[in-house]
This record gives sequence, structure tokens and C-alpha cells, in this order.
Amino acid sequence: MTIKIAPSILAADFTRLGDEIRSAEAGGADQIHLDVMDGQFVPNISFGAMIVKTARQITSLPLDVHLMIVEPEKHLKAFVEAGASAITVHIEACPHLHAVLQQIHDLDVKAGVALNPHTPAMMVSEVLSLIDLVLVMTVNPGAGGQAFLYEMLGKVKALRRMIAQIKRPVDISVDGGIDAATAKHVVMAGASVLVAGTSVFGAKGGTAEGIKLIKTAIERAGR
Ligand code: DX5
Ligand code: ZN
Repeated sequence: MTIKIAPSILAADFTRLGDEIRSAEAGGADQIHLDVMDGQFVPNISFGAMIVKTARQITSLPLDVHLMIVEPEKHLKAFVEAGASAITVHIEACPHLHAVLQQIHDLDVKAGVALNPHTPAMMVSEVLSLIDLVLVMTVNPGAGGQAFLYEMLGKVKALRRMIAQIKRPVDISVDGGIDAATAKHVVMAGASVLVAGTSVFGAKGGTAEGIKLIKTAIERAGR
């Protein structure tokens, strides 16, 4: 399985966002992760579609948009028009998740479902055929730089088993506290996309070095 690295710009220096995204791309990022927060679903407010549009002008990498917002269905079109390649909504924010996923597909982008730490893997069982990725929050959503929740490894394993039962490929993305130390554990558990903010954009040796450290750790784990 090819493991993809998705640097989260939440940890980037926004005074030089263009350079930050370009160095992630040059350093081997497979996609760019954009964390949208509304101050309601999560306490913080981050940024909206304008930053997605900015990122789209800087890179041709897929833009992986993680919506930590209530009523995401009201904003799907704006994010797609801004250049999103994939849109992930939180299951906890969508009483009509099935309909929201259909709307995302109708807009011709990939669809993802994110699970907060307390939400069990089986909550996605009825929509697995409608999604391209499941995002397992490995911290509570809302801020970068938090400690990885090791108890989420069981959820990643459970999802890998569920996905093995269906015919289509579904990525398992892990988000929060991913660095060279935790990367090998999530990959062994079955994750295929690693979202990393602090360990990439905050890396002492620079962005490319941050990505390299994660990739080396995965290779050492035999993946
Ligand atoms: C948290 C966000 C993450 C965040 C990860 O709510 O969804 O994408 O940027 O940051 P780190 O890698 O610093 O934990
Ligand atoms: Zn995220």
C-alpha cells in the first residue's frame, strides 16, 4: 500500500503561505490538507474558501479540505469552486450524512467522512460504498500540536477490516499528533494517508526534513 503524506497548513507560517506550500510540495507531499473551522463545531475559527483558492493558485497537488463546521452542506459548492479535490465532513455535524455525501459526489470531488475520537468505526458502515476516505481524528478536532491518542489505533484497525470486505478502495486518513514516532503505529494499523501539521511545518530542519523523517519512519516499519 502506498502511504500518502498530507501536510496541514494550519501549522504553516501564513506570512509566507506560498513558500510553505511550495516547500511541502518540493519535499514530497502527496496532497495538501486544509483545516476549516467555524467556531461552532469546534471552538476555533481558522479560514474559509479563500485560503483554498489561494492554495489552488500555488500548487497542483490535490487539496484535501477537512470541514470542521456545522451544516457543511451550505458551503460545499464554494469549496469546490475554490479548488478542493476532496471534501471531508464530520459525521457528528451531519444528521443527513448520506444526502451530504451525494451532494459532494454531484460536485465531482472525492468525499470523506471524519470521526471524532468518541465516534466508533461502525458509524460509517452504511456509507462506506459512498466514500473515498475515512478520516480518523487522532486528537480532538480544533487545534494543531496536540498529543496523539494511542487508543485510536484500534479504530483504524477496525476500519481496515471493514474496508477489506468491500470491493472499492477507501483511504484511511489519520489526523492529529502524527510525527515520525506515531507514523509507524498508524501505518501498521492500516492508515494510508497521514495528515501532519506541526511535525512538518514546525520541523527543526525545515519542511522537507519533516516529511522525510515521517517517510523514513514508515519505511523502517516495512511499508
Ligand atoms: C486538528 C486538525 C489537524 C491539525 C493537525 O483539528 O484537523 O489537521 O492541523 O495538527 P498536528 O499535526 O499539529 O497535530
Ligand atoms: Zn484536519
